[in-house]
Amino acid sequence: MKFVSFMLVAGAISILTVSCNNNSENKNAAVKPGITKKDWGQVDGKNVYLYTLVNDKGDTVTITNYGGTVTSFVTPDKNGKYSSVIIGFDSLQPYLQKPPYFGALIGRYGNRIGNAKFTLDGTTYQLAANDGKNTLHGGLKGFDKVVWDASVPSDTIPSLTLKYLSKDGEEGYPGNLNVTVQYTLTNDDGLKIEYNAETDKPTPLNLTNHSYFNLTGDVSNNILGETLMIDADNYTPVDTTLIPAGEIKSVKGTPFDFTSSKEIGKDFAEVKGGYDHNFVLNKKDSSLDKVAEVSDSISGRIMDVYTTQPGLQFYTGNFLDGKFINHGGTPIALHSAFCLETQHFPDSPNKPNFPSTILKPGEKYHEVTVYKVSVK
Ligand code: GLA
Repeated sequence: MKFVSFMLVAGAISILTVSCNNNSENKNAAVKPGITKKDWGQVDGKNVYLYTLVNDKGDTVTITNYGGTVTSFVTPDKNGKYSSVIIGFDSLQPYLQKPPYFGALIGRYGNRIGNAKFTLDGTTYQLAANDGKNTLHGGLKGFDKVVWDASVPSDTIPSLTLKYLSKDGEEGYPGNLNVTVQYTLTNDDGLKIEYNAETDKPTPLNLTNHSYFNLTGDVSNNILGETLMIDADNYTPVDTTLIPAGEIKSVKGTPFDFTSSKEIGKDFAEVKGGYDHNFVLNKKDSSLDKVAEVSDSISGRIMDVYTTQPGLQFYTGNFLDGKFINHGGTPIALHSAFCLETQHFPDSPNKPNFPSTILKPGEKYHEVTVYKVSVK
């Protein structure tokens, strides 16, 4: 048994190394589905691990319990060449240099809360202003910078469970919040993320994952040539600090109209600074629906995004500056990756007309998102 486990670890790690370091290698598919683990260092006196999820096809996702971060998602392109469609690093160290949330779990509140405060049941809560005067992605030490408790439900199924207790008052938020996130790599190359949470005091909650994608698998290509559809007739316009005014505006006749597939670069010049906007999804309820599709002609890859959430932040890597280096040694330059962050709308705690983000004691928070990659 020990020998089998060792072989699985060795096999998965060597495949991963090949995949991440050399985008042109073909992959040996003779690998068993499941999950393996290796030591990745320590943070805050806690052990950090890198987990490799392998599905039936031999495709892989790597995740660390530091920040619940997805570090790679390796799939084949149309020529059978393997590379990661998610940007990231091969070691823990660069993740400690505060990259802009690469692959991480985001909480307690993904996106921004205006003026870093909100009022709930008559009490005003002051949060850390870490984005000008606003709070962004959970504050100074959000869920992306903590070590999650990891467990493996079964080592023959590619699934990882992460748990984190965010204590009452952490980053200014009320209530002890117990969060569980389950990552699964499905056999049809879906990276499924299930979020569950419970609280002992009412609190705003907006969990998401901040993976950056480049479907070509090579960040020396920017993402402006990839084609995007978002099933959203409306978006939430923002002020210069990216806080929504509260208006829900039609995308019709604007650069935000992705209702039919178009190149990301098509109307890009008309959006000052690039896209960094929340789209109001057309879906009517909290069922798991397809909300976006991205395709790339270079690799032939397609990515379908499914979610239970009402909003989607489309971000075109407008603050990427080449400082961080992706798997394989390429600098992560401006617009070399995009994010599709499934979420509730930014600043909802201060916008009574937006769907509520308040979780109350006794309620069960449950959201699901799937990023499914295929090849044409
Ligand atoms: C989110 C925000 C962006 C930016 C990135 C991280 O997507 O909407 O404005 O802060 O995170 O750099």
